[in-house]
Amino acid sequence: MVPIPQCDPRANYYAHRSEIDMAVQRVLESGQYILGEEVEFFEREFADFVGAAHTVAVASGTDALEMALRACGVGVGDLVFTVSHTAVATMAAIELTGATPVLLDIDPKSYTMDCSSLQEALRDHPVGRPRAVVPVHLYGHPADMPAICEISQKHGVYVVEDCAQAHGAKIDGRSVGTWGHIAAFSFYPTKNLGALGDGGAVVSSDANLLARVRELREYGWRKRHVSEIPGFNSRLDSLQAAILRAKLHHLNSDNERRALLARRYEELLNQAQICLPIIRFNAQHVYHQFVIRTVQRDILGDYLSDYGIGSAVHYPVPVHRQPAYAGRVHTFGDLTHTDYVAGEILSLPIYPELSLAAVDRVARHIQEWENLKN
Ligand SMILES: Cc1ncc(COP(=O)(O)O)c(C=O)c1O
Repeated sequence: MVPIPQCDPRANYYAHRSEIDMAVQRVLESGQYILGEEVEFFEREFADFVGAAHTVAVASGTDALEMALRACGVGVGDLVFTVSHTAVATMAAIELTGATPVLLDIDPKSYTMDCSSLQEALRDHPVGRPRAVVPVHLYGHPADMPAICEISQKHGVYVVEDCAQAHGAKIDGRSVGTWGHIAAFSFYPTKNLGALGDGGAVVSSDANLLARVRELREYGWRKRHVSEIPGFNSRLDSLQAAILRAKLHHLNSDNERRALLARRYEELLNQAQICLPIIRFNAQHVYHQFVIRTVQRDILGDYLSDYGIGSAVHYPVPVHRQPAYAGRVHTFGDLTHTDYVAGEILSLPIYPELSLAAVDRVARHIQEWENLKN
């Protein structure tokens, strides 16, 4: 029985091995190991991919989000509206600025921010200055950006997109990362565009916001050794930039392959009792994860594991119920959908190198499991 992992970043390295090895060799021989030409080329190429004017490459997605928020002036006393159904990194980044997160419920179909909750929370918020909204394009499905931008504009707050899981996802043909004022991406190895280490990027078409991020990235320098503002060290390594450049060439075809695998799951499981992903009419999903729902999620996960099939739960405990955050972050309303979805979701194997035969095997075992329990 050949195991089927839930994700496999090594397979992506093997798929593009010769280009990655050449890129690594080029950097090793260049003598420039941090920032430099490779990072500048990558910034240009990634901005073109997203369709934004500028990119600043940084050390991680969490840093990218924190610096994007700081560039918008977010800090102590400010409220930042986001969702509880996300990676805890979203919260960490908001809190690192000194701001207070206000957590909203999700739409149970797309698992992204519920826009009516946003509207109500901006009207009727806890004590503090509403300053920014952070929609998360979770699992590769875009949040409802036209509605979020319209509501946010009415209330004069910044929109900072968390695109960590959605490189290349679109709404009405326009990429995520170009809807809000500024956006953050992660290049954690399992992401649709993954480095072989940590990495992240901030993207925007507002040159002033990105100039601020560029200063924050390296000690607040505008000119070397002159700190204009207190900054950080969040530089991207040249090696990671070169690897990302090699992989960026394949991102569109990798995303197409993910979509093909998702269609196969959908065809095979359309009669099943589990709940399949639901895609908003104007959205292009990039299937960072293929997430199904069933009330017996843990039992199904164990059953698949018995047949060598990996699965995962993203995320089993919503942020407002995590020991570090419970009772400290604000929640708006009772987050009903967030809570029940967390108990039912299961991420099936999906990555560009996964074979159709493997998808068939996963689907067959899900069907068998359903037949056994009926
Ligand atoms: C939704 C979301 N936001 C932010 C991040 C943070 O990215 P990183 O792990 O690169 O810091 C991640 C990655 O795990 C994520 O999934």
